[in-house]
Amino acid sequence: MAQLEVRAIPPFLLSGEAAAVRRDAERLLDGSELARARAMAPAAGAVFLAGRVAQRVFAAELMSLPAVELAPAYSCPRCGAGPGLGHGRPGYSYRGARVPLALSLSRADGWTLLAAVVDTAPETRLGADIENPSRTGFGGFDEVALTPAERRTLRDTKAELLPAARARLWARKEAWLKMTGDGLRTAPSAVDVRECPGLRDLGPAETGLPSHFAAAVALSMPVQGSGSGGSGSS
Ligand SMILES: CC(C)(COP(=O)(O)OP(=O)(O)OC[C@H]1O[C@@H](n2cnc3c(N)ncnc32)[C@H](O)[C@@H]1OP(=O)(O)O)[C@@H](O)C(=O)NCCC(=O)NCCS
Repeated sequence: MAQLEVRAIPPFLLSGEAAAVRRDAERLLDGSELARARAMAPAAGAVFLAGRVAQRVFAAELMSLPAVELAPAYSCPRCGAGPGLGHGRPGYSYRGARVPLALSLSRADGWTLLAAVVDTAPETRLGADIENPSRTGFGGFDEVALTPAERRTLRDTKAELLPAARARLWARKEAWLKMTGDGLRTAPSAVDVRECPGLRDLGPAETGLPSHFAAAVALSMPVQGSGSGGSGSS
């Protein structure tokens, strides 16, 4: 069974930490990543850079490779893949070869969750997502985000437990849609995540996130010997 690695990165508590992140980013990240951050508002850019620095260090540690020598190898369902592409499904190459690592990243309220499975085949797909329940309280969430069957499961949920139940479903949906690579190009209300192969919730003891956060991971791995097409959970 594949070993899932997860790491939670807390928000900046001190303004000096943002300055340190920017210094690390200048040292470690590539031009496309720095350019994406420059196009953002300063605070959002710092959060973006912190996630990218942490993701690179996480990948380098898992693979025992020098972080500074990893090159981003992203793939986007719309734009494809290749040098200079800085968005979409995350990945890295090292000295021109694919790093055999399935990776996923999610940010919420300053927190970043990183997830990885090492020594993977190129077809292995991983998606992870985190959500703060307070973000799901807006009117119309259920209609936009949930399938009719999912909405039925919430009917008997006590009002005070609804935000957590919605966040749990939402984290599952985004984890699943990152795993497939489609993201929100697929309507979330079209994806039923009550029971999907390889999809599961992650608890605070496993992630290190605040206990009220919802978190989920989806993993799809090729069936051994067939080269592609199967799925399995961590
Ligand atoms: C994937 C998605 C659901 C995540 O959105 P979110 O909840 O706002 O953000 P999160 O913090 O949870 O996740 C962000 C991470 O998702 C990952 N990601 C983005 N697109 C992805 C995709 N297609 N497949 C898998 N992972 C993806 C990246 O690692 C990204 O981190 P980055 O900001 O460092 O690049 C959303 O970005 C999306 O729907 N993207 C696809 C839309 C698309 O195809 N756009 C075309 C662009 S040209």
